[in-house]
Amino acid sequence: MYEILKIRAFTESIREYTFSAPLAARRAEPGQFIILRVDEYGERVPFTICGADKAAGTVRVLVQTVGATTMKLAACKEGGCVRDIAGPLGRPTDLSEYGKILLIAGGIGAAVILPQAEKLAREGRCADTIIGARSAELLVYESDIREFSQNLHTVTDDGSAGDKGFVTEKLKVLLDGGKKYDAVFAVGPLMMMKAVAAVTKEYGLKTVVSMNSLMVDGTGMCGCCRLTVGGKTKYACVDGPEFDGHEVDFDEAAVRARIYGEQEKSHVCRLKNAH
Ligand SMILES: Cc1cc2nc3c(=O)[nH]c(=O)nc-3n(C[C@H](O)[C@H](O)[C@H](O)COP(=O)(O)OP(=O)(O)OC[C@H]3O[C@@H](n4cnc5c(N)ncnc54)[C@H](O)[C@@H]3O)c2cc1C
Ligand code: FES
Repeated sequence: MYEILKIRAFTESIREYTFSAPLAARRAEPGQFIILRVDEYGERVPFTICGADKAAGTVRVLVQTVGATTMKLAACKEGGCVRDIAGPLGRPTDLSEYGKILLIAGGIGAAVILPQAEKLAREGRCADTIIGARSAELLVYESDIREFSQNLHTVTDDGSAGDKGFVTEKLKVLLDGGKKYDAVFAVGPLMMMKAVAAVTKEYGLKTVVSMNSLMVDGTGMCGCCRLTVGGKTKYACVDGPEFDGHEVDFDEAAVRARIYGEQEKSHVCRLKNAH
């Protein structure tokens, strides 16, 4: 059992959980994730590790409530426990190869770039960052990311915070204004990452994206998280979750993300009532 030490609510549907999970905390690196099961009847669901404290033995994850398991987690209280936490899983982000980095996050993708920005700041090579959301209340970790950034640019679709527009528009403004980067790391909704990769391809700028494929086992066995990258089959859980954004087949990934849509509409979820 893994205790929930703290819950920080950003909105009704977005919360950050701090778990006591010393083994996961000990080896966690930016870009990695855990797979969590709320109780013994629960599904295994992946969440990015947005912070780890090795000394305290804690990991933090930011969770958006979207379905049965995240609803079950939303009902948990501080001092309660979840059944299993496996991790860290996936390959850590490799930030070593590039000089000047631009990190881009859409929505709760901020959970992925926060530890990346923090690591770069600790190494004395602060990144520039762009964070975007539909509106001001859905912007998360803005002040934390600002602390670790050389320049933070905030955009919202409705203009309620920062500049009005999409992250891709801000990206173009920066590149057309003469900003030079060695690599862009982008994370967020699939179509946002596809759009970022399309922009950076025009500028010949290396781009890494973090793929949130549907996952089951998280160990490369079940094939659920399969993607095509550069014409080759890859598994997001063990080969990723980060891949070259110019090589990912986003259209196939979008089809696979909806692959169980019909079954989800008609099936009766046993997990909702399991306890
Ligand atoms: C490597 C990785 C890291 C992730 N990190 C985070 C994170 O830090 N915070 C967070 O809130 N979520 C994260 N996710 C997504 C999260 O795992 C899903 O939202 C969760 O599994 C949904 O479970 P559920 O039972 O509540 O919803 P379900 O009932 O399973 O699904 C509800 C809806 O969400 C969609 N959905 C399910 N899984 C995903 C997914 N992987 N990506 C996009 N849409 C999905 C379904 O198609 C459906 O429309 C991550 C996924 C991966 C693969
Ligand atoms: S989740 Fe099963 S192979 Fe990746």
